[in-house]
Amino acid sequence: MNLLSSNDLSKAEINKVFDIADDLVEGKEGLSLKEHTTLALLFSEPSTRTRVSFEVAMAQLGGHAIFVDMSTTHLKRGETLADTAKVISGYCDFIAMRVDSHDDLLTVARNSSVPVINALTRLEHPTQALADVYTIQKHFSRIKGLKIVFAGDIAQNTANSLMITAAKLGADIALVGPKGVMPNELFFNKAREYSKVDVYNDIEEGASEADVIYTDTFVSMGLESSAEGRTKLFAPYQVNSTMMSYAREGAIAMHPLPAHRGEEISAEVLDGAQSVVWEQARNKLLLEKAVLIYLSNSA
Ligand code: CP
Repeated sequence: MNLLSSNDLSKAEINKVFDIADDLVEGKEGLSLKEHTTLALLFSEPSTRTRVSFEVAMAQLGGHAIFVDMSTTHLKRGETLADTAKVISGYCDFIAMRVDSHDDLLTVARNSSVPVINALTRLEHPTQALADVYTIQKHFSRIKGLKIVFAGDIAQNTANSLMITAAKLGADIALVGPKGVMPNELFFNKAREYSKVDVYNDIEEGASEADVIYTDTFVSMGLESSAEGRTKLFAPYQVNSTMMSYAREGAIAMHPLPAHRGEEISAEVLDGAQSVVWEQARNKLLLEKAVLIYLSNSA
């Protein structure tokens, strides 16, 4: 079994991963990987949290992670991804891949003999969404019926994965962004099969009565050439104290990081009392461990 998309996990499977995370927190016995289990981190894009947390996860579970900077491999000299996947999966027990092209991830998955985990593509960030939704569930002691607002660039990978994972567990989703920017149609329509998911251009209307206000960079990896235009387009949708004032009392602010204070989120909110971003970042390690255990038990 792979984790390529948030669509790969049913509601029951997400809850199973969350149960493993709870068991890890409680220090339940027997939650480790087989001795010498090895994970290849096949990355072509920068990462701080995902790379380090996967490496720590493997060490803490009794296994080992090998970071593979794709630019230093023979991929750079024309070896195909398919051949690379066949070879690396002959050595390692898991592959976690961070790459711009989701099709490249699918190529690796098709040619790998071991489970492949999406560690971010242009289209999705499923392990991030698991950490995010787990953080929300722990904070509120529930998820069903909460209103989660995603503000800013509602057409990008964290929005796609968050809306699927949270909607499957019964949260309502409000996507709040500028006119002319629509969510990815496939993810939007899929999420609407599970819960209420709506698009708003009006910030007050969209953020009204929110339990969670979530944002991410206005300039996703690979879109740097249009940074100036995007920053201007999304600027009114910055998560700041005005937007937070439309939310419910007790609402939380979330961001997967890295954050750009003064762009998609104000410093006041990111570093303020409503922010749960450091807990959210810490939970990446926990949920990656839970995913690795879940996949190794499903193999
Ligand atoms: N949130 C996240 O994926 O962080 P990194 O890009 O640092 O891995």
